Amino acid sequence: MSYLVLARKWRPMRFEDLVGQDHVTRTLGNAIKSGRVAHAFLFTGVRGVGKTTSARILAKALNCMGDPELTPPGVDPGPTATPCLKCRACLEIAQGTDMDVREIDGASYNGVDEVRKLQDSIPYRPSRDRFKIFVVDEVHMLSQSAWNAFLKTLEEPPPHVKFIFATTEVHKVPVTILSRIQRFDFKLISAQMVAERIRYVLSQEGIEADDSAVSIIAREAAGSMRDAMSLLDQLIAWGGESLRGEDVARVLGVASHAVLYEIARALVTGDGGRCLEVVSDLANLGQDIPHVARDLLALLRDLVVAKVSQDPARLLDLPDGEAADVKRLASEADTDDLLRLHQGFAQGFDDVVRSGQPRAALEMLLVRLSRRPALVPIDLLVQRLGQLERRLGGNQAHAAGPRPAPNAGGAAGGGGQPMQARNR
Ligand SMILES: Nc1ncnc2c1ncn2[C@@H]1O[C@H](COP(=O)(O)OP(=O)(O)OP(=O)(O)O)[C@@H](O)[C@H]1O
Ligand SMILES: [Mg+2]
Ligand SMILES: [Zn+2]
Repeated sequence: MSYLVLARKWRPMRFEDLVGQDHVTRTLGNAIKSGRVAHAFLFTGVRGVGKTTSARILAKALNCMGDPELTPPGVDPGPTATPCLKCRACLEIAQGTDMDVREIDGASYNGVDEVRKLQDSIPYRPSRDRFKIFVVDEVHMLSQSAWNAFLKTLEEPPPHVKFIFATTEVHKVPVTILSRIQRFDFKLISAQMVAERIRYVLSQEGIEADDSAVSIIAREAAGSMRDAMSLLDQLIAWGGESLRGEDVARVLGVASHAVLYEIARALVTGDGGRCLEVVSDLANLGQDIPHVARDLLALLRDLVVAKVSQDPARLLDLPDGEAADVKRLASEADTDDLLRLHQGFAQGFDDVVRSGQPRAALEMLLVRLSRRPALVPIDLLVQRLGQLERRLGGNQAHAAGPRPAPNAGGAAGGGGQPMQARNR
């Protein structure tokens, strides 16, 4: 039997299997139940989040003839939010052979002639199904004249015709079109939801994976379920029946949470030497240093969020174990210090990414940040300033007036250090 890639094998067949797009499925489901279905839809959002999948499910929902075992012949059950997946319409749409549901690829179908031909067929009623449905994918590839040809049909479509457009680049769709169709914005899928789906697919496939492995794949997918499934394919081809975090990190050339956490902890405690050791291990494993830097920046952001937010779980998008680590480390650090670390790292990040020697650039950045001077609390500074004023005596303090001396003005941006130095 030929191997079907996981993304296709696990393409959701019903709205309820679609992960992370509840706002879309709820609105569509309600519209179908209440019989208020628009005549044209636009599904937009980044790659691999369920646009094409939803277009096919919607086509089934509109045309499903009802479970053949439960629906008496000659009875039309009408559109349903839960297509049966057994009737001829459902089966043929899934196979792409339904005469009345045409899937068109915007990339190869961008001329006005094709659209005209399509329009010639529009007045004729569907041959078997309830609706004639045109699914036009990747519509950002359509030419202006092709859109113009669509425009007229979208204005006054016959009741038996529905259009479903899908694209990653909604800004390329003309406004005149946008104002005539119902738009659905598909969201990036959270890492936790991606992780849950990965676990489900792995369990169905009979493959074991530890938490770290799942978490790395989910993180690398960056919100795209298709990317998650493709990474899984790649890893299963490599590792077979069981996936371990360390191996996954090595194969994908990224750092595991534990390693990133180790660097963050060394930064917080000011241990530059430890930072260098961890970077050396990463480099020896051949890991991609700019990628590590990006993940580290995200972790430093998470530390600030964990420190400041009342409800960090909602904002962190991390598996429970990792979120607990982040919260623990954040609790040991000072908010301003964490902010300083993030800001300092963000400023040096571009150098690491652009550098011809990213390893050295990252090392020096980490050492520099580890050597940051300790923060002096503001009340301590005010107290010392008071002492200084008293020592200088009343007269001089008055003469200086409210205007700061040029030097003091220059030192203000540099934090507490210069003041501290002069005080000694
Ligand atoms: N929301 C989702 N829930 C579950 N699986 C999903 C979801 N989105 C995508 N997938 C998985 O990814 C595969 C590709 O999804 P789909 O073709 O719908 O993406 P798309 O949004 O159309 O992407 P593109 O913009 O690249 O065309 C599906 O077959 C399915 O395995
Ligand atoms: Mg698609
Ligand atoms: Zn059906």
